[in-house]
Amino acid sequence: MACAQGADMQDFADKTGFITGGASGIGFALGRVFLEAGMRVVLADVEAPALERAKERLGAFGARVMTLRCDVTDRASVAAARDAAIAAFGNIHVLCNNAGVGTGGRIDTVPPAAWSWLMGVNLMGVIHGLGEFVPHMKGHGEAGHIVNTGSMAGMNGFRGMGPYCASKAAVVSLTESLAGELAGTALGASVLCPGAVNTEFYESRRNAPDAVPPPPANSREGRAAAAGVKLTMEHGIPPAEAAARVLAGIRDGDLYIFTHPEMRGMVEDRYARLGAAFDKAAAFRAP
Ligand SMILES: NC(=O)c1ccc[n+]([C@@H]2O[C@H](COP(=O)([O-])OP(=O)(O)OC[C@H]3O[C@@H](n4cnc5c(N)ncnc54)[C@H](O)[C@@H]3O)[C@@H](O)[C@H]2O)c1
Repeated sequence: MACAQGADMQDFADKTGFITGGASGIGFALGRVFLEAGMRVVLADVEAPALERAKERLGAFGARVMTLRCDVTDRASVAAARDAAIAAFGNIHVLCNNAGVGTGGRIDTVPPAAWSWLMGVNLMGVIHGLGEFVPHMKGHGEAGHIVNTGSMAGMNGFRGMGPYCASKAAVVSLTESLAGELAGTALGASVLCPGAVNTEFYESRRNAPDAVPPPPANSREGRAAAAGVKLTMEHGIPPAEAAARVLAGIRDGDLYIFTHPEMRGMVEDRYARLGAAFDKAAAFRAP
């Protein structure tokens, strides 16, 4: 069922998608799904060797694939990647602000450099993508769609995941605002909120700047948390399944794209707690 936002995008053939964090995991799978739907695809990523591997793996799609090095924390880098993509393929129709990283730890122990890195990629990366691409996508007037990658971690706070949850809650909120702002245009917006997906996300520190100190690997708690995240991801759904959900969600103009129906209870519990808080407010106001 389509929601009340920009026109739904139905026709993917010969359209162009631009995917940040496109060299691996969910972003790479999105690229493959879009290519299979007949699109041209630009995979933008900070990790050059992973981009090379991605290009090789998608060799069968030939000149419909382009890879670009791009750091989403850097607005100028995003703008340069947009210009290079347009120069090669023309108008961009689907933007996936998908690059993301994770860092854990209790809120009062996370070092400022780790906060800056995480928010720089997960939140500012999305903001830079929207700032640089939305004017172009509105301007060309053709049907298009924006998919921001959030997470189920954006639907609730979790102990030990404060920075990540905060960044993803912000992405959910930004996308809700964006969808309202795009009403009446030829563009729609979705936020992808997966549960665990089997990617190398648990190793996202591989892209951290040197200033970000390593996690406390020598503590038993730190080692257990890292092992737990790895295990959860290894039991996650395949990235291709998440990507296929995204394609269907774009077609349907869905604002929220979920991949894990079994996590519904978590969101409903939160609503119940919010509802109870409103009940208290009502009781407080009552004469
Ligand atoms: N894997 C999961 O269980 C899961 C669950 C929910 C949400 N997500 C989200 O999905 C998205 C994709 O993650 P994934 O699981 O595919 O992990 P991944 O590590 O395989 O992919 C993330 C990609 O982002 C790139 N990247 C990191 N920093 C960047 C930067 N500054 N600029 C450009 N690219 C950068 C990495 O090089 C990598 O290719 C992330 O936003 C993540 O938060 C993942």
